[in-house]
Amino acid sequence: MTADPVRAQYETYPYPARDPKEEAHRLVEGSPSHLDEVDHFCFAGRLRAKPSFNVLVAGGGTGDALVMIAQHARDRGIPAAITYLDLSSASREIAERRIAARGLDSVRFVSGSLLDVATLAPGPYDYIDCCGVLHHLADPDAGLAALVSVLAPGGALGLMVYGTLGRTGVYPLQAALRSMVPESDLSLQLSVARRLVKDLPASNWYRRNPLLGGWDVGTDAGLFDLVLHPRDRSYTVPELANWLDGAGLTPVAFIEPARYDPANWLTDPALIRRAKTLSPIDAAALAENLSGTMKTHIVYAARREEASNRIARPAGADTIPVARPAAKSLVPALAKGGILKMDLDGHALRREIGPGLAPLLERIDGQRNLGRIGRDLGLEARTLMARFETLYQLLNPIALLTLRF
Ligand SMILES: C[S@@+](CC[C@H](N)C(=O)[O-])C[C@H]1O[C@@H](n2cnc3c(N)ncnc32)[C@H](O)[C@@H]1O
Repeated sequence: MTADPVRAQYETYPYPARDPKEEAHRLVEGSPSHLDEVDHFCFAGRLRAKPSFNVLVAGGGTGDALVMIAQHARDRGIPAAITYLDLSSASREIAERRIAARGLDSVRFVSGSLLDVATLAPGPYDYIDCCGVLHHLADPDAGLAALVSVLAPGGALGLMVYGTLGRTGVYPLQAALRSMVPESDLSLQLSVARRLVKDLPASNWYRRNPLLGGWDVGTDAGLFDLVLHPRDRSYTVPELANWLDGAGLTPVAFIEPARYDPANWLTDPALIRRAKTLSPIDAAALAENLSGTMKTHIVYAARREEASNRIARPAGADTIPVARPAAKSLVPALAKGGILKMDLDGHALRREIGPGLAPLLERIDGQRNLGRIGRDLGLEARTLMARFETLYQLLNPIALLTLRF
């Protein structure tokens, strides 16, 4: 057993639990670090113009982001060089087998703490993924500073940290378990946790928080990560913004942007008008306080002085729209017209559907630019751009439609 309880946990229970054989059947995709999202929100859609793309996956675990980035880069013809870093050798072994199963050759594996990244793997890196890691460090400020020290000029980070409100109930349960079972016996901790979760009174906040239902507590690794973690903390939006600020960073985009827009959680026009006067961070904080649903925060961040003009905008015929498969499934609803209902963490978002959006969305394949799509549809440029803007305003805030050039 190692002296560091966090390392001990991830040596025994690599997280998330993954079987390399599954690579033959599916690619695990998500945020942060879906490459279309990174391209759109961090590199103004111009990632393919970069002669090289150096990526660090810090605390890469069993390899979800690593595999996704490497596969996306290969599929999109982006010349990526990707470095995986983690302190758990058991996790690294799984990640290595997943990369090998896909025959990807753009990855090098490094073992150690991200606190030592400047000596272990100095980079510099154009993009750093750090998903669900920094909130487990004794000193998250030192961890973030270490990552910034290897960030290339013009680079960006994709971070996920826990959100305080959405995790309501987790920390009292962690404290209860700590008081009932010593931290040194991982399997006893797990068996006590399984009994306690089943025996919680109906009034308990962990039991009453439906947002925690989606967590993978069926596996030992998942249950341990949620209710027995020896060290984890969560952030509110202002705490997250202050933390980034202390490292010289600023948020470029929260994912999905719609969740961080208070107007989407309100209906009263007078209240929406008030919300619209707030700064972006204050607005995001208000959205968090109104919704109560944010159990994680996914944020793309850049150095304060490099944060403007990072997000792609529709810019005429050369714009190549890229739709996620979930966007494509909206084609029938768009064809029907009327009101489109979208789900925002269980809250129904209603948007009026403009004319001609279904055939436009149908033709988006991540290859054709708007000029070509307009010709295919027989639309003159102004009509095409107006329709595209409507579609973009509908789907980009939920990160289903991004742009590249
Ligand atoms: C919750 S897992 C997340 C794994 C992966 N990023 C993902 O999202 O699937 C946290 C990972 O961070 C690693 N970790 C924790 N502290 C670390 C540190 N100081 N340096 C490098 N890795 C660390 C753990 O070993 C573990 O694999």
